[in-house]
Amino acid sequence: MNTIKQDMIAILDLGSTENTTLARAIRNLGVYSEIYPHDVGNAELKAMPNLKGIILYGGVNNVVDGNPIEPSPVVYEAGVPVMAIGYPAAKCEKTFDACPADEAEALKMLSDFVLVDCGAKKNWNMNNFIADQVELIRRQVGNGKVLLALSGGVDSSVVAALLLKAIGNQLVCVHVNHGLMRKGESEGVIEIFRDNLHANLIYVDAVERFLTKLDGVADPESKRKIIGAEFIRVFEEEARKLKGIDFLAQGTIYPDIVESGTKTAKTVKSHHNVGGLPDDLKFKLVEPIRQLFKDEVRACGLELGLPRGMVFRQPFPGPGLGVRCLGAITRDRLEAVREADAILREEFAKAGLDQTVWQYFAAIPDFRSTGVRDNARSYEYPVILRAVNTVDAMSATTERIDWTLLEKITARILSEVKHVNRVCYDLSPKPPATIEWE
Ligand code: XMP
Repeated sequence: MNTIKQDMIAILDLGSTENTTLARAIRNLGVYSEIYPHDVGNAELKAMPNLKGIILYGGVNNVVDGNPIEPSPVVYEAGVPVMAIGYPAAKCEKTFDACPADEAEALKMLSDFVLVDCGAKKNWNMNNFIADQVELIRRQVGNGKVLLALSGGVDSSVVAALLLKAIGNQLVCVHVNHGLMRKGESEGVIEIFRDNLHANLIYVDAVERFLTKLDGVADPESKRKIIGAEFIRVFEEEARKLKGIDFLAQGTIYPDIVESGTKTAKTVKSHHNVGGLPDDLKFKLVEPIRQLFKDEVRACGLELGLPRGMVFRQPFPGPGLGVRCLGAITRDRLEAVREADAILREEFAKAGLDQTVWQYFAAIPDFRSTGVRDNARSYEYPVILRAVNTVDAMSATTERIDWTLLEKITARILSEVKHVNRVCYDLSPKPPATIEWE
């Protein structure tokens, strides 16, 4: 019985750079859409639930290795209308040389095809998306067990909540505390997932292990590599201890796929999630939010009942405070930057800035300066505060923070955080600076 609620339009990537814009435009019409590679197979096409139409979307990247790419012939046998844009396809119901340039015309072309020719219903909403994913996860997983690395970031948290709804304690979450988390972060993951949602959650305290590996390592890229490799090793060890795991869930989202390079798009940077596991631990993947954009992931998280603080959490780098405790990490400075960061976050939240500022954090350098404390000379560390706004993290501007607030945060850090005698505010935009200090 087909219990899938949402109709779907498939976009085949024939080299357009605008696939995601088209997908979003269709979703804006109220119809779910997904993007597939040009050589999508028959089995994959047949397995698409409620497929109502296909759009072949060509463009500048149509040539791969010197040859123009062609859609898989099976698309014409799928029994649904096919429209081509920017791609000369004789067998299609409709072809357009390009998407019409003015907005109203483009919208009309799209709504005529999607709503009239394909007869797709406007039934894309988060409620239906979740219901459909629950059904699809159950079909894929059956009685199997699923393993998930749960960092507490938005994507892995939403995947955890979705899988919990679908398969309950067939899901095993592993949360690795590498000692580079922000204050209260691991505790928050345990409280939300183990205590409130009753997830099967394994908490791994790997703090000593990570800090020992990082001991004396000053180069930022070496630190990143050590943290990434050690994470996989810890996760691998946990996976080996568990018996009968069949699947690995990942919080891959659509921009990860685009940035890692589709068949026609060039690679921007590779995203691994928990890639890098050894061959004998290659599980089948469950990626229920792989077709969502970030704002949709957040909407999904809210609909699943996750707290707003988790869903709208600011970006936090995988290596965590490891790249904010500059140079070789020492425990006193790591604690100082964690405490300073917590004060900054608390004061930003009180001022409502957590709702508006894109990213804000503290960093601590590995040099000291002279100060005075208790009528005596002190020699302690500075803390650098940073708050930036950006759309895509490629460039960023500095938040014009209110002076009184800055003074309040400074006073708190200087009185509450050990080993710190100065607070600086970083005014540098990106470029030439980057957002992080390492
Ligand atoms: P930069 O410092 O390059 O940062 O301007 C851009 C965005 O990326 C985040 N960032 C990282 N995220 N692993 C991550 O997962 C990393 O190694 C890493 N380095 C930077 C940074 O926080 C900012 O949002």
